[in-house]
Amino acid sequence: MEDFTTDEFKNIGLYNGKELNDAGLFNITNKEADLGKFKTPGLRNIAVTAPYMHNGMFKTLEEVVDYYNNPQAFVTNSINIDDALKSPLNLSEKREERFSKFSKNAHRQEIPEKSLVTGH
Ligand code: HEM
Repeated sequence: MEDFTTDEFKNIGLYNGKELNDAGLFNITNKEADLGKFKTPGLRNIAVTAPYMHNGMFKTLEEVVDYYNNPQAFVTNSINIDDALKSPLNLSEKREERFSKFSKNAHRQEIPEKSLVTGH
């Protein structure tokens, strides 16, 4: 069934080989380039599927957005993080609020297959 993801594996910075030690796709492929990559999940019904990420480390969507805003503030020395997340997004509070509102609406029927904003 179509699951509304890009079917791509990406590293959003949740692997540092220490307290965050699930190497994700690498565990299957043994390719160094796959270290810390996880499948990009669909965001349908995201408001009711907490906690978030492969290890459930975020309890709310606000925490998720805070994380994306500046991953390095949460995880030090993450390995192989995607270029898109290498420098802080510097979302203003207003923008962050809109992102989390957007995600909370993601259970609507008319949600587009893929969001241009998040790549999910
Ligand atoms: C700021 C915009 C973004 C928002 C609001 C967002 C939202 C989310 C949420 C809510 C989850 C948790 C899904 C769940 O646990 O069911 C998630 C996971 C994920 N996102 Fe994003 N995302 C954003 C940007 C990105 C970008 C730019 C990428 C790719 C570089 C990406 C790749 C992923 C991946 C691979 C996961 C799974 C991580 C894991 O399981 O540990 N996201 N995202």
